[in-house]
Amino acid sequence: MILILQYSASIAAYRREPEQGTHGMVASGRAVASQIGVEILKKGGNAIDAAVAVAFALAVAWPDAGNIGGGGFMLIRLHDGTTTVIDYRETAPVAASHDMYLDEKKDVVPDLSVIGHKAVAVPGTVAGLELAWKRHGKLPWKDLVAPAIRLAEQGIVVDSHFVACYPSFTKTLSQFPETKRIFLNNGDVFKVGDVFKQPELASTLRRIQNEGARDFYEGETARLILDEMKANGGLITAEDLKSYKPVVRSPLKGTYRDYEFLTMPPPSSGGVALLEMLNILEQQNVQQLGFHSANQIHFYVEAMKRAFADRAGLLGDPDFVQMPIDRLVSKTYARELFSNIDPNKATPSSTLTRKSEKIQQHNTTHFSIADSDGNVVANTFTLNDSWGSRVTVRGAGFLLNDEMDDFTSKPGVPNMYGLLQSEANAIAPHKRPLSAMAPLIILKNGKPFLVLGSPGGPTIINSVLQVTTNVIDFGMNLQQAIDAPRFHHQWMPDQIYVEPFAVSPDTKRILEERGHKFSATYFFDPEQYMGDVEAIMIDPKSGEFYGASDIRLGGAPAGY
Ligand code: DON
Repeated sequence: MILILQYSASIAAYRREPEQGTHGMVASGRAVASQIGVEILKKGGNAIDAAVAVAFALAVAWPDAGNIGGGGFMLIRLHDGTTTVIDYRETAPVAASHDMYLDEKKDVVPDLSVIGHKAVAVPGTVAGLELAWKRHGKLPWKDLVAPAIRLAEQGIVVDSHFVACYPSFTKTLSQFPETKRIFLNNGDVFKVGDVFKQPELASTLRRIQNEGARDFYEGETARLILDEMKANGGLITAEDLKSYKPVVRSPLKGTYRDYEFLTMPPPSSGGVALLEMLNILEQQNVQQLGFHSANQIHFYVEAMKRAFADRAGLLGDPDFVQMPIDRLVSKTYARELFSNIDPNKATPSSTLTRKSEKIQQHNTTHFSIADSDGNVVANTFTLNDSWGSRVTVRGAGFLLNDEMDDFTSKPGVPNMYGLLQSEANAIAPHKRPLSAMAPLIILKNGKPFLVLGSPGGPTIINSVLQVTTNVIDFGMNLQQAIDAPRFHHQWMPDQIYVEPFAVSPDTKRILEERGHKFSATYFFDPEQYMGDVEAIMIDPKSGEFYGASDIRLGGAPAGY
């Protein structure tokens, strides 16, 4: 296909080809989960059935990110053009309050919103998956949960990505006996190649298989979560679980050059920021700037700063705050922002502060699925940090999220990702914390062309942005577009973060001369990776599927 052949030798010295398939494709963070997705498609399931099975499989195969104790967003486009978002983001418990992470002096108590029972928001994953299946699934629910049960019982083979977490996380995981017993093998930590069986998780999944989401929110699993909370000062009550509801939303829509974009509206900032940046980039021919030239990086970074400033100042849960979304994603606003970008000088982030209009490792994973009927699914779900709150529900075998840290603990104080946030994202009972997750479906001539998304906290938005423009503007094949090194700016701190080999020393020097500052390290990841994109491209002419996974966290696509 044209885009795959349009390869410019200047882009990368090496390229890998995407996986090819003629019937369907699954790209996820773990090969075994992608294969389970294909197993469901082959059985006659559609992309939504496969999404449910892949999500449960990831909860087993990648327990520190794939989850049933967290939440996420599923973006669906059906073959008839209908589009839906299932928002199964976690919510703040009723007992949560505006200043719950502050001490008497109104200072943020370190780690309280990140580690332990008070960091946990009401999980949404099981309810979200059930709702997606009820609305769009074809196969029996039992068949979709079965592969994950099998995987939990038979065990997963521990890989290098699993053990890579240990140096950073062993200490905090050890604080919780059940987490230590299961995920650290009681102190005798797993090695690559070991088989890791999860019998408690298998039992939980079996209950969910038999009773559906009711088990998780009102049945035996709910009881185990509540016991865990009660015994350890957690806030979640029976009422919190019982009243949890996923929300059906319309995707946020935009265009970039000849392509239509469907993505995630608030409570994620992902879609708004992405469309805002693309609208700015559209004002120039970015290919002519040259891939990773000082001019390209300057232009992208200036767009990133502006979109992240809007995110920080203005966005939150739509059920709680009013936001000028239409304006933020409009071409008029992009032109206004573009006209204020000096091509030769970095704009200091401090001059871009927005005021909220008061009218009003890290672990996440993404997967993309396309089936032979033309249905596509982009799903990003998360525990927030790697291993979430580090709390494992005793007797139930799964970790709980620490999504409360995505709220503003205190305006002006950075959260775990260094993000500064505003009152718009303050904590309130039942509220959803602002997210950066950006599942994305791109249409060409009205048909799905690209399906993608990524984990990575704030780097999600910029990873998705760069992969998208690597394909659309630089003509890379999908795998190349994902493999290419990335850079990131999130308004504050006013620094460019770069992956190894993303910027040559002379390009860096030119950018520094323009006033840009570079971070020596990436603030939350010593490995300095950004994102983990899992994507599918559908050839507009042949209808063939191309799947590509990010090498950064060891994903693998499966097609057939
Ligand atoms: O919703 C969010 O934006 C964050 N909780 C996502 C965290 C994340 O992607 C970490 N992954 N590596």
